[in-house]
Amino acid sequence: MTKQFMQELISFMQQKGFIWGPTPEIYGGLAGFYTYAPLGKMLKNNIENVVRDVFFKNDFLEVECPTIMPKIVWEASGHLGGFTDAMITCKKCKSSFKAEQLLQELFPDKKITSFESFLSKNNVKCPSCQTIFDSKVEQHNLMMKTVVGIGNEAYNRPETATTTYLEFLRYYDFFRKKLPFGVFQIGNAYRNEISPRQHLLRTREFTQAEAQLFIFKDQKNNFPKFDNVQKDKLTFWAWELQSKNKKPETISLEDAMKRKFLKNKVYAYMIWLTHKIFLEIGIPEEKIRLTQHSPDEKAFYADDAWDVEVNLNSFGWTEICGVHDRTDYDLKQHAKFSKTNMEVLDEQTNEKKIPHILEIAFGTGRLTFAVLDLNYDKKSEEEGKTILKLSPKLTPFKVAVYPLLKKPELTALAEKIFTDLNAEFLCKYDEKGSIGKRYLRASEEGTPYVVTVDFDSLEKKDVTIRDRDTENQVRVKISDLKETLKALIYNKQTFVMLNKKL
Ligand code: GLY
Repeated sequence: MTKQFMQELISFMQQKGFIWGPTPEIYGGLAGFYTYAPLGKMLKNNIENVVRDVFFKNDFLEVECPTIMPKIVWEASGHLGGFTDAMITCKKCKSSFKAEQLLQELFPDKKITSFESFLSKNNVKCPSCQTIFDSKVEQHNLMMKTVVGIGNEAYNRPETATTTYLEFLRYYDFFRKKLPFGVFQIGNAYRNEISPRQHLLRTREFTQAEAQLFIFKDQKNNFPKFDNVQKDKLTFWAWELQSKNKKPETISLEDAMKRKFLKNKVYAYMIWLTHKIFLEIGIPEEKIRLTQHSPDEKAFYADDAWDVEVNLNSFGWTEICGVHDRTDYDLKQHAKFSKTNMEVLDEQTNEKKIPHILEIAFGTGRLTFAVLDLNYDKKSEEEGKTILKLSPKLTPFKVAVYPLLKKPELTALAEKIFTDLNAEFLCKYDEKGSIGKRYLRASEEGTPYVVTVDFDSLEKKDVTIRDRDTENQVRVKISDLKETLKALIYNKQTFVMLNKKL
């Protein structure tokens, strides 16, 4: 959509206490670092808890590994040698750019595979000083180095995945020597991005949610969980379609297998699981597509790679998540470098083997940005209001409780109701400012329901519930209030139905 929308969205996030930065603001800010302000942190926590819930319900267990690992780990994983971005630096003003991002911004309709030859043939100018680039494309390593103890070289992890893999033999015992099994981590990772300029979409420190499924190669097409989901339809943009300039197609997983878009059943299942997370977060189905990487776009560790892309109002189709078949690459590398035998018994074939790994990898910051982008609804200037139409499971507060006026008899009852409701779900009490301004504040924070105590409440023992999206109100007995709100918040009742019933 428009640059203006993006600027409005980012300024909304700053002003209303979702995201601050680049941080530290009082020192001018360091590009690629942001603070999750109170509402943003609550939203991110809620998103991560939805992710956790989906993983748990699909038999993945959570672990937490250190974020710093010694140099040898990253030599083994291949990140020290190969985790790089192509970079172009202007000889005149010395500004550096990630080649892929720069060329994508300047030539959005072109799919450019060789940056160097494109730059030399097209007289591309440096966006900072307008000089034509005449320098070579260099490889910039994204690892962030640190020192542990006295001079021990170590690195901040650029992904949680590698740190998860190092415990493979421990999992094997924990899961009673039976594959497949799955684990996931939600934790921070670090990448020394060249020049991050896309707010939460590209940061140098970020939280990843990454699930890893360990499976023997010959189980990849013998995966019963696939049978339960194979009829579900998803939108696929396989490389085969992209390379022939064809549009994405919405087909079942079963058909995607038949057409060889997907290589095996377990990969198809991981794609399904990722898609499910996006639906559970409340991203509309038509805004999600699965895009396969071209053969030369894949990460060095991936045999097959698909992105889950979301059509954002600010940036258009944007990669939010990756699903990778990492084969036995990682465990083989760690076996070699650590001189540890990573082969385990496959009871089906009675052979010792190194398993394969499939992963789902995304940044929860990107997901938080996507949720804000898709739900930020700014009404016209005349109406002067912003509504954040988040699903109640994601909103920082579930209910706001207001006395109509700041009169002792109203505030006393409102506080009592607040205390009672707050024991059930997170609520906000607010008595400052006109009731209209407070309704607006609740809408901006995404709070789906506001309970208002007025003078009738004292006599009739009832209150109003105001619905964020329709702005309608219903009167409910205080004795029924908690149950009514529970039904609304936990999706057992819609406000429209409640309104009709009362
Ligand atoms: N673990 C894969 C990634 O960080 O994208």
